[in-house]
Amino acid sequence: MSRDDCELLWSRLSEFLAANLGLCFGPERREDLMRAMACAAREFGFKAPEACAEWLLSAPLTRTQIDILAGQLTVGETYFYRYARNFEVLESDILPELIAARRGGTRSLRLWSAGCCTGEEPYTLAILLTRMIPDWRQWRIAILATDINVRFLEQASAGIFREWSFRDTPPGFKENYFHSKGDGRYEILPYLKELVSFSYLNLAADTYPSLLNNTNAMDVVLCRNVLMYFTPVLAMRVVGQLQRCLLPGGWLMCSPTDSSAVSPIGLQTVSFPGATVYRQVSDDPAAERIAVSPPPIPVPSSPVALSAARRPTVIKPIARSSPKTPIESSLDVHVEALALYQQGHYAEAGDRLQELLASRPDDAKTLELLARVYADQGRLPEAAALSERAIAADKLNAGIYYLHAAILQEQGADDDAVRCLNRALYLDPNFVLAHFSLASMARAQGKMTAAHKCYSQALKSLEPYRPEELVPESDGATAGRMREMISAMIASCGVQHATGRDRLVEARP
Ligand SMILES: C[S@@+](CC[C@H](N)C(=O)[O-])C[C@H]1O[C@@H](n2cnc3c(N)ncnc32)[C@H](O)[C@@H]1O
Repeated sequence: MSRDDCELLWSRLSEFLAANLGLCFGPERREDLMRAMACAAREFGFKAPEACAEWLLSAPLTRTQIDILAGQLTVGETYFYRYARNFEVLESDILPELIAARRGGTRSLRLWSAGCCTGEEPYTLAILLTRMIPDWRQWRIAILATDINVRFLEQASAGIFREWSFRDTPPGFKENYFHSKGDGRYEILPYLKELVSFSYLNLAADTYPSLLNNTNAMDVVLCRNVLMYFTPVLAMRVVGQLQRCLLPGGWLMCSPTDSSAVSPIGLQTVSFPGATVYRQVSDDPAAERIAVSPPPIPVPSSPVALSAARRPTVIKPIARSSPKTPIESSLDVHVEALALYQQGHYAEAGDRLQELLASRPDDAKTLELLARVYADQGRLPEAAALSERAIAADKLNAGIYYLHAAILQEQGADDDAVRCLNRALYLDPNFVLAHFSLASMARAQGKMTAAHKCYSQALKSLEPYRPEELVPESDGATAGRMREMISAMIASCGVQHATGRDRLVEARP
């Protein structure tokens, strides 16, 4: 291969990796890329990295190929309490407000470590929360931790760490929350391990926010030391999507190295001494208390403290050329509300839908969409009431049962959610997402045989779909991507054949 051909091949591969994994390997990182590709080539069974690169470029990547590439190309640098200032700000300013606001109400908190690596970051969150909420067992605390590198995720789930992970921890940290395995390794205590759910998510390619992967309605998202590996365009897109995962008033924390990517409309910059954090604009004045109170002192290097809220762009009502029938008008409003919802403008979408409901209180589509809007705002009791009304208005619609089940599950009413999912399956036995949700619930309860069985049903229900086809109710996931995801889940169940009787499936009417 000539020098020019070789140069062209590497730059094509860089573009391909940026598009599929989000990772940026510009000319200045060419050597890193060549070194990592030499290792990946060996794993794929190629002698020459160039031949391996040509092969990878010849077709869309499979999940296995992504796993191997991510294993070689991602950087796994992390440790407990990394950038201690971030955790101090969480402890002194952000979490106390959130905890106080929820204590008298839902007693729930949702946090996400996006790009969690081997788990030190989400476990630090778990330790912080259990320390701050003495009665945390009476709360519903969800700490989601995702990464693209499955080997990191396996290590994270095992929860065993070496001394090096504790290089910046406060005194007593290791002694209080880990037990020594006697060989220089330390295992996180089981109650902390149980608070964190690890799962695969490619920030460059997967869908979020989504009920499917539980990335919706977050109070706090940490995405630190991840964006800096992405192309600037992708980094901004990821921040925009993460922003939509936040509840109004929710917080996004990035690392100082990532901050150039964070400027999407609708996020406020809140500067605390030594830490800059971003906040989803809220219509609720109570949720803005931190942002409007004077104490945060800007650090010299970041001059903008408490910048004025940048309001989300409001979609203009659709221009009307000729008078419309009431049905046409309400269709317009519905379309408008849907667009607002999809762009994350939940409050405006909610207002439009409430207007519609005033004239058509039993319209199942409006009730369903408003339930989604409220669920994404964390207004779960209202969302549940609306999805129940939607079911009453359209009793044969399996999708609405599925939505209601997702809301019930978020409220912690797992048994009711299972009943609802079984009703959805009674109406549509090939409802992929309903099988998938039953499987995920069984897996979370440690019922691996039941999970294996439901995942297999989900896979079977996917058979009629072409790989590029979108799966209903999946918030935009393609059948090909879902197949890969479910196959990986089946493999992780560690069950050869589903044999045991499955309580979840038995509950089916
Ligand atoms: C340097 S670590 C950061 C870990 C942790 N957030 C911290 O700050 O200590 C970067 C992580 O981002 C993950 N990552 C890279 N590209 C990703 C992608 N496209 N989707 C999800 N995670 C990705 C890597 O696998 C790695 O675990």
